[in-house]
Amino acid sequence: MNSIEQVDLESPTLELVLNLVHKLTGISMGVNKKTLIQGRLRPRIRKLGLESYAKYLDYLNSNKEEIQVFINLVTTNETSFFRTQRVWDYFNKDFLASWWAANPRKSLKIWSGASSSGEEVYTIGICCEEFKLKNPGFTYQILGSDISTEVLVIADRAEYLGRSIEAFKTSNRILFDRYMQPSGDMFKVHYEVKAKIRFEIHNLFTLPKERNHFDIVFLRNVLIYFEPADIEKVLANLSKAIANQGILIIGESESLNSLKTNFKYKQPLVYEKIGDSFEK
Ligand SMILES: C[S@@+](CC[C@H](N)C(=O)[O-])C[C@H]1O[C@@H](n2cnc3c(N)ncnc32)[C@H](O)[C@@H]1O
Repeated sequence: MNSIEQVDLESPTLELVLNLVHKLTGISMGVNKKTLIQGRLRPRIRKLGLESYAKYLDYLNSNKEEIQVFINLVTTNETSFFRTQRVWDYFNKDFLASWWAANPRKSLKIWSGASSSGEEVYTIGICCEEFKLKNPGFTYQILGSDISTEVLVIADRAEYLGRSIEAFKTSNRILFDRYMQPSGDMFKVHYEVKAKIRFEIHNLFTLPKERNHFDIVFLRNVLIYFEPADIEKVLANLSKAIANQGILIIGESESLNSLKTNFKYKQPLVYEKIGDSFEK
């Protein structure tokens, strides 16, 4: 009997796997991603004792609970605290002050729509806590969501170690010491920040529960995995949940240029919702 180590992911199984990735997550991958997909799926197939990718597809068909495992394996969850300083400069120096001046009696509602393991959400929370120190009446709530349950478990635990902790510690020692508390060999996000944050599983291709609710949405480094027509679908869904004139922040390698959306360019990485959403 062959072991999965000796088997290559060939056509037409390769295309079936890529189609399934797209159907379940919206992520578009070409056949050039074969090595990546093989590397992600092989350990799972080995663990299940199956001897081919085709057998794994059969297994997925007859074991519905495996679908979430598959989604967790094929998504790329790279993230870090204070990723892309330009975004945090805008959020701290521009957005928070002007939003608070215009809405002194409201609570700021924030959504991170592809929050991965939580570093982005906790960065937002730390910025809000810093703003609150100077503006004691300020309150906020943050929703973090992702399609991968594996990263959401890490996000909800709020305990980190390794590379992302080291980068945060070296780049911003004062905030690190203020908001990250030693917990064994890990560091835990301060409970004041954690208390304002909840995490949920959510696929961006489905309608969010909220309507005209969020004042600012972070959707960074996820659109890059989608085709333009799929980005339009995601943004049509998302815009229903954003308040009018709410802000959308995207990633550095992403752009909404020449897409049919109701988001207007404000400055690099920053868009504003205008009018009603396009139905898709
Ligand atoms: C590269 S991470 C970006 C994390 C964070 N926003 C950042 O910029 O550091 C992309 C995340 O998007 C999530 N994702 C991919 N497709 C998704 C979908 N259809 N719905 C929701 N999340 C999705 C992945 O699970 C992954 O955690």
